[in-house]
Amino acid sequence: MTDFECVECGYGSVKWLGRCPSCSQWDTVVQVSKFAGGGSQETLEDVIVSEPVRLSEVSSETSEKIKSGLKELDRLFGGGFVEGEVILIGGPPGVGKSTLFLQLAGSFSKSGKKVLYISGEENPSQIKIHASRLGIGGENIILMAVSDLTAAEKEIELNSPDVVIVDSIQAVAVPGESGAPGSLKQVKRSTAKLVSVAKNTKCIVFISGQITKEGSIAGPKVLEHMVDAVSYIDILETDLRIITTAKNRFGACGDFLLYKIGSSGLKEHKQPAAGAAQESIAGQAVVCVRTGSRFQAARIQALVSESYFEYPLRRTSGFSRERLLMLSAIASRHMGMKLSSSDIYLNVGGGLKISERSADIGVLAALYSNLAGKAPPAGTIFIGEAGLAGEVSPADDIERRLKFAESNKFSTAVISSKNTAVKSGIKTIRIGKVKELKNIIK
Ligand SMILES: Nc1ncnc2c1ncn2[C@@H]1O[C@H](COP(=O)(O)OP(=O)(O)OP(=O)(O)O)[C@@H](O)[C@H]1O
Ligand SMILES: [Mg+2]
Repeated sequence: MTDFECVECGYGSVKWLGRCPSCSQWDTVVQVSKFAGGGSQETLEDVIVSEPVRLSEVSSETSEKIKSGLKELDRLFGGGFVEGEVILIGGPPGVGKSTLFLQLAGSFSKSGKKVLYISGEENPSQIKIHASRLGIGGENIILMAVSDLTAAEKEIELNSPDVVIVDSIQAVAVPGESGAPGSLKQVKRSTAKLVSVAKNTKCIVFISGQITKEGSIAGPKVLEHMVDAVSYIDILETDLRIITTAKNRFGACGDFLLYKIGSSGLKEHKQPAAGAAQESIAGQAVVCVRTGSRFQAARIQALVSESYFEYPLRRTSGFSRERLLMLSAIASRHMGMKLSSSDIYLNVGGGLKISERSADIGVLAALYSNLAGKAPPAGTIFIGEAGLAGEVSPADDIERRLKFAESNKFSTAVISSKNTAVKSGIKTIRIGKVKELKNIIK
């Protein structure tokens, strides 16, 4: 019998180990005894049972979307949620998962929905303090500070809540199963139980999940395939959060939402793109990047300085270093920039990460602008890919990018000359070669 288990990969050991020999992670081996019931057999108790039925005869009663009342969040999940849906929201510690869940509970309860809030992390008075700070009264919210999921299941059967919130999956467990709360087995088992409860009672279940250093929920993304929708909260800046959907069985996926977190909770944050349009700074160029199905303006800042090292530095934040090396070579060869004895620092503002090639000419513009000490004209946005021959290739979805630029008060877009058929409400400067950027930044 194993007494210790790795929470990342489930490796079992009779003694404690600092590092898991299976997945090589440190501090992931924990004792499994608290909820142990002697390692029970896998049971079929939690599977969804249904008789075979002709597809044409199945009634689609869940087509109606149920709105939480948090407009932006409903939009993120494709207009709301469906009965029996299980939604997993993951994020690192302190990112605002409990805050979001309390706001969700408050909003659902305001529209008359019965909410059961299960917290294995905070006691009712702590939750009350948190809720009061957010201005949530909570007439229709029942709190349960338990780790035992069977007790929660009984409450669900007794009071049939419309919405069940579980904060967090690592803090609850199914008694009788081996493993402490948070262990891989328990996390999987608890999720399976919640999925079956949701499907059988038709309540909507929200589960929060702590993300490990490696960015996965409870180790290898074991839960993603079990639930209907998965979303992640990430930190962009100190008080700026981005929520993205990674999976959605009942709606669109890949969208994102920006939130500011403060003493009164999470509030939608409108992109400061219009601000970016007014700026004209040497060494900075604004690009248009896609996040999910929407676009964002991102400021790219470059600093080219004399190097004191044998091998000049190439440092990036929010941008691929490999891509910068390639773009530096293009800049040297096709724009005549002397970079071989200079350090280059490239930073994407607002904590954004850019992996799109459409940002290439923006990076070149920022590099040239810094080197030349001249700022790109205010209101200019750069949208195009750079090729090794110094040519500028078109970015995909150019019409939507231009529409985004127009609605965010940009006055000029620098695009590829190959985008011939594109119509736009703003001025476009079409370039065929990267060296033409020098005529724009003067
Ligand atoms: N009084 C306050 N004023 C302003 N912001 C606060 C206040 N209290 C908490 N916060 C913000 O809320 C965040 C914590 O939010 P929350 O408890 O919802 O996070 P969490 O993701 O549930 O964390 P954990 O993983 O520890 O459960 C803090 O990091 C802080 O930024
Ligand atoms: Mg929390």
